[in-house]
Amino acid sequence: LYIGVDLGTSAVKLLLMDEKGKIHNIVSKEYPLSFPHPGWSEQNPQDWKEQSLAGIKELIADADKSQIAGISFGGQMHGLVVLDENDEVIRPAILWNDGRTTKETDYLNEVIGKDKLSKYTANIAFAGFTAPKILWLKEQEPENFAKINKIMLPKDYLAYVLSGVHCTDYSDASGMLLLDVEHKCWSKEMLEICNVKEEQLPTLYESYEVVGNVKPEIAEELGIPSSVKVIAGAGDNAAAAVGTGTVGEGRCNISLGTSGTIFISSKKFGVDEHNALHSFDHADGYYHLMGCMLSAASCNKWWMDEILKTKEYAKEQEQIRKLGENKVFYLPYLMGERSPHNDPKARATFIGMTMDTTREDMTQAVLEGVAFGLRDSLEVARSLGIQIERTKICGGGAKSPLWKKIVANVMNLKVDVIESEEGPGYGGAILAAVGCKEFASVEEATEKLVKIVDTVEPDAELVAKYEERYQKFRQIYPTLKGLFQ
Ligand code: XUL
Repeated sequence: LYIGVDLGTSAVKLLLMDEKGKIHNIVSKEYPLSFPHPGWSEQNPQDWKEQSLAGIKELIADADKSQIAGISFGGQMHGLVVLDENDEVIRPAILWNDGRTTKETDYLNEVIGKDKLSKYTANIAFAGFTAPKILWLKEQEPENFAKINKIMLPKDYLAYVLSGVHCTDYSDASGMLLLDVEHKCWSKEMLEICNVKEEQLPTLYESYEVVGNVKPEIAEELGIPSSVKVIAGAGDNAAAAVGTGTVGEGRCNISLGTSGTIFISSKKFGVDEHNALHSFDHADGYYHLMGCMLSAASCNKWWMDEILKTKEYAKEQEQIRKLGENKVFYLPYLMGERSPHNDPKARATFIGMTMDTTREDMTQAVLEGVAFGLRDSLEVARSLGIQIERTKICGGGAKSPLWKKIVANVMNLKVDVIESEEGPGYGGAILAAVGCKEFASVEEATEKLVKIVDTVEPDAELVAKYEERYQKFRQIYPTLKGLFQ
């Protein structure tokens, strides 16, 4: 049996899988997210630890614990976790959707220069990336900066708690802006720019490599054998791609989670010359390009929870009938936007309401606005000559049949629905299975385990209607940009 841990932003989701890919149990444990200032976003690593350990206990309560062989992760990316010389957490983690580093991001992109950053790391600076956060800490909290003994990413902190090893993997490390993505090593230039020593960084592994065994006291606490292996795991998007079989050459996965991502796997290293898409290592040992929206399913959650004050998401969506006809637009930038605008100050907005605009039109506009935002990144990929006809889909938003239909038609892609939509958790369990030599490679594992159960086909008439709407949508941000400053 293999445990996959998806360390998300709203909750940790844990999954128990057997060697045939069958899911035996799923458990989810929530923890708080704090916004200490507008645009800031933090979490307490202690919460991750407590909820993950409690979650594992619950997950395996009825399982034959002696059969558990490995555990691995998909984790929210880019978060800055800092440990002191006693391996105690120094301050709350600064998360991937935190926008406080405008000054540091500008310094990296404008003073060091995008060309140099791209040469050193294959990427430019975005506010959520780890390196600008390190610069922020140095400037704003010098006493905390001075205490740093280890810098880690969120899921690496969990791997450390379980195994005692300071490790990370190439896919997640790619999002730090400290890794030379092409050559898979820390960039000496970036370490110098950020005042970081290599000893302060974790050891690099492939996502499917074993980093150690669970520590005896953890094994005892969880009631599992101390032979259980801890496998490095991946950033949640790379793990989700594994979980949906998006590995090897030219495959695509869309994730509708708190963030929204479009992920394109590749066997060859490549950089987006516009610097709008991230160029990262993949968990299968190769590479990928990715566009990331900071608010995707979280737009719908905000709209339902905070504004409509309902938990009946599906019921609200059932009322929606006129796809392609909506007059209302929604700009999905509740936390600023990463891809493709790289603008932490961008904000969300509704446009185009009239006296006959209904609740359903607004709900529909939210779902469509997220799909249009993802289409922006798809257009960047298309402009690089990348041809995509179909995609997999995962994340909480993928549970909505309506949202899948909107995505298929806005993007003009065939959307393959797979048996398990538990992207990162399932991918984590697959990586654990590969690490335990159940399969020879990630590619072999996904070929055997990931099954497509349905395909949502785009409809030519709807595609044409959405094309017209998308051409209008893409004019909204440039028109409003000046107001957000
Ligand atoms: C990717 C990104 C998000 C987080 C969400 O670059 O920032 O998708 O990984 O957990």
